[in-house]
Amino acid sequence: MTEKMKKQSNRSCDVLIIGGGSAGLRAAIEAHDAGVHVLIISKSRKGDPHTVLARGGINAALGTMDPEDNWMIHAADTLREGEFLADYNKVEVLCKNAPDAINELVGWGARFHREKDGRLTQRFFGAHTYRRTVFYEDWTGKEIIRVLMDQVRRRKIEIVDNVYITKLLKSRGASGKRGIVAVEHIKGATGIDVKKKKIAIFECKSLILAAGGYTRVYAVSSSRIFENYGEGVALAYEAGADLVDMEMVQFHPTGMVWPRTAVGTLATEAIRGEGGILLNSKGERFMKNYYPERMELGPRDVVARAIFNEIASGRGTKHGAVWLDVTHLPKAKILERLPTMYKQFKQLDQIDISKEKMEVAPTAHYSMGGVQVGRDCKTKIRGLFAVGEVISQIHGANRLGGNSLLDTVVFGKIAGGAAATLAKNLKPQLLGLSVNRQNGFDYGIFVAKDPIKFRTEIQKLMKDSAGIVREAGKLQEGLKKILKLKKEFYSKDNILKKFKLNENVVRTWEVKSAMVVCEAIIRSALMRHESRGAHYRSDFPKLDDKKWKLNISCKQKRNGIALFRRRVREGKGPLKDFLKAHVKAEHHREFE
Ligand code: FUM
Repeated sequence: MTEKMKKQSNRSCDVLIIGGGSAGLRAAIEAHDAGVHVLIISKSRKGDPHTVLARGGINAALGTMDPEDNWMIHAADTLREGEFLADYNKVEVLCKNAPDAINELVGWGARFHREKDGRLTQRFFGAHTYRRTVFYEDWTGKEIIRVLMDQVRRRKIEIVDNVYITKLLKSRGASGKRGIVAVEHIKGATGIDVKKKKIAIFECKSLILAAGGYTRVYAVSSSRIFENYGEGVALAYEAGADLVDMEMVQFHPTGMVWPRTAVGTLATEAIRGEGGILLNSKGERFMKNYYPERMELGPRDVVARAIFNEIASGRGTKHGAVWLDVTHLPKAKILERLPTMYKQFKQLDQIDISKEKMEVAPTAHYSMGGVQVGRDCKTKIRGLFAVGEVISQIHGANRLGGNSLLDTVVFGKIAGGAAATLAKNLKPQLLGLSVNRQNGFDYGIFVAKDPIKFRTEIQKLMKDSAGIVREAGKLQEGLKKILKLKKEFYSKDNILKKFKLNENVVRTWEVKSAMVVCEAIIRSALMRHESRGAHYRSDFPKLDDKKWKLNISCKQKRNGIALFRRRVREGKGPLKDFLKAHVKAEHHREFE
């Protein structure tokens, strides 16, 4: 340990929340209101988490535009979009609680769009039976963050930003009436304060991980360069939690392709929801060949693969894209409903979308896989909860647009309440010695020589081997490469003997985390011998419910990752009966 590393700051609280996005903020509000001391840690600047990039909207079966809608139809759409791989109970919780979640945000001042008569406007998003997506222009995530930050400020909940967590701390305690039983319990977290260049240590009674997903492990992603390397997933896994459905990565159909510096930046689904159409380089509205029922508003995986196929078959633009066209819409509508998109294309691509077509192609957008949690967001480690994109089994094999903002607020509330209850009921004497005493505590921090080189190689290999279309040979090649990179990364030559506590720790940890999640993605993708939702195998193009209506989970074993198959939790009750009576699985997703 260097002299510099001895400098540290210690903080303690009842409930520690890692992540300052909508899931973390909503959890913090609930835990605070339950009467416990909450602390939020955020690696990005306060009020600027990944959620601010969420554009098109948030779903609830409010029935303001289509009164026939109800929570059960919303749940059925969610399950069907996810090819029935999600946990049915979690989907029920999500959709039943959606109207209350929206009303709560409205009560807190969210300025969602309204019709002239005052009803909340709901727009179409892909694969929804009814208009169900509530929005604020085309930057709904930013509006939700504004409202949640306001609630956090009113409650004086502290956010410590620019802190990057590198490890979760556990203690071994004793419990049981008759004797001593070792119980692992989350005790806190350690990391670095990037601004102060100090080790930061946090002690807590329960901890909520709300640290986002893992789509930045791909070269083309809708995440910014500093977010979503799977850090939250890797932290939980290394602490002993299981991961599920890691192969399920959603590629949003429409990311920018030009200029190169803007590659991957989202062109919101709201563009298609408001009437935008997709054309290939021959001017054909090609979705009629893939999904004539809903055309551009088909399931995301279908639209993304259709675009991929058009480009691969030589019908793409010179920049390797297809056209997204709104020039037939009135300019006033574009400016009212899509103002950010109008500005984004004008500023970055120098085009006026009311007069010219946009060039778009798929971009890695959302990780459906992640940490396994129970209904109240508990992981299998006592005291450790997780919520938001870091968890799995809410969206199955593919997520409905507009359901991710919803999941952060619905499950954020649940996680905050459950973590507060546990913290309040915890008898401190049951906890063992704090492991973070200055003497003898292994911070486990290191810095690699050139983490950015590793990051770039990982992003490229993931794009080539585990992208939109996968097959055994490429996945095997990807696995070989990732294992080779891992060896190099941890080799003595690559680890610096002396280093400073600065951004290089963060870059190193992004790579360290990415390696964990990429190995899990590739191994799970290799195991799943079928195509389902976002996971498309050209060597197994059919969905195979008989063999593969299963979740693949990853567990940490002494020799590395071990994979297990588990039956999907289908639950009982009215939702299952409704699905049986009304919903057929769709097998529209297979095409050459
Ligand atoms: O296209 C979008 O605005 C994305 C929304 C979502 O992923 O939910």
